[in-house]
Amino acid sequence: MLTFEDDITPVAPSAGVRMATMGVGAVAGGDTSEHSYTIASTSTGRIRVEDKRIINSSADVNQLVPFKYKWAWEKYLAGCANHWMPQEVNMSADIALWKNPNGLTDDERRLVMRNLGFFSTADSLAANNIALGTYRHITNPECRQYLLRQAFEEAIHTHAYQYIVESLGLDEGEVFNMYHEVQSIRDKDEFLLPFIDVLTNPDFKTGTPENDQKLLRSLIVFACIMEGLFFYVGFVQILALGRQNKMTGAAEQYQYILRDESMHLNFGVDVINQIKLENPHLWTPAFREEVRGLIQKGVELEYRYAEDTMPRGVLGLNAGMFKEYLRFIANRRCLQIGVDVLYQGASNPFPWMAEMIDLKKEKNFFETRVTEYQTGGALSWD
Ligand SMILES: [Fe+2]
Ligand SMILES: [Fe+2]
Repeated sequence: MLTFEDDITPVAPSAGVRMATMGVGAVAGGDTSEHSYTIASTSTGRIRVEDKRIINSSADVNQLVPFKYKWAWEKYLAGCANHWMPQEVNMSADIALWKNPNGLTDDERRLVMRNLGFFSTADSLAANNIALGTYRHITNPECRQYLLRQAFEEAIHTHAYQYIVESLGLDEGEVFNMYHEVQSIRDKDEFLLPFIDVLTNPDFKTGTPENDQKLLRSLIVFACIMEGLFFYVGFVQILALGRQNKMTGAAEQYQYILRDESMHLNFGVDVINQIKLENPHLWTPAFREEVRGLIQKGVELEYRYAEDTMPRGVLGLNAGMFKEYLRFIANRRCLQIGVDVLYQGASNPFPWMAEMIDLKKEKNFFETRVTEYQTGGALSWD
């Protein structure tokens, strides 16, 4: 159902799209808008679908329909259909393996610890970025509906890492402080933080080309580099453990998280491409080159993380394999948002990862229970 090859073709804007009416007190060329912070509609007329825009829209954000971006609504429905909770996954085999002195090698333990060290805080960064930043600046209700679902999924992911840490009896202070204390993790987060801070700054508003580019830049960094690159060494590592029948509970949780993140990435790419279509003046050659430079920097940081988490070969994996994998992934991100690829000819050394993303096909892989939420629970009023 969900693969790297998902359709990412955005909807072309209708010919009738007009520039968004600015908020109350707007001055042409000056402070342009209060729309991001206004709950009530500035318009009392009925919504026209052609007035809906991803950013800088004057259409009422409280009226979900009529839909303009059906892909956003469909992703919201798909996210809900994929609902899961960490405590449904049985961790007993992982606990037994972790507590057995001969259960895992030192390198495997280092890999698990540093994995949790990165992810345990990364998903809180992601949730805060959505709730305190991105959400305010996206002026379309069907996209906001997906972002609300995504924010909850990020909370579930943080819950999953906490649940693994608690189940295994790990030192939570050590794990949750790695983003301060382990250089390769800290470097990734320090790269991300300025792009998150732009959007969470209460004084930041879209509505000028410069600020709209800032938003677009942050959206690209978040979707294509954070969710689309910085998660992938960690995903491969834990799923590789699961494929060797080690830490199967953790691996199952990571598989659910990978499925969610793949959807987040695809949603982010659709939003980015739609903003480009609606605001072509933002997509300048200089901006595209800047984006390529950022993706290249992301590859370097993630490769350093791979080297740090795997100083020697482990599980049949080594850092060199990840260099090729990251180049392959980075090329995909470039193609998804329409910039020239960075690494000609890079190939995928882990073809099994693409299958992992499609959980429906693979759901019996670890022979554990998968709850189907599509039907929902019965509600009794007794
Ligand atoms: Fe997440
Ligand atoms: Fe995410």
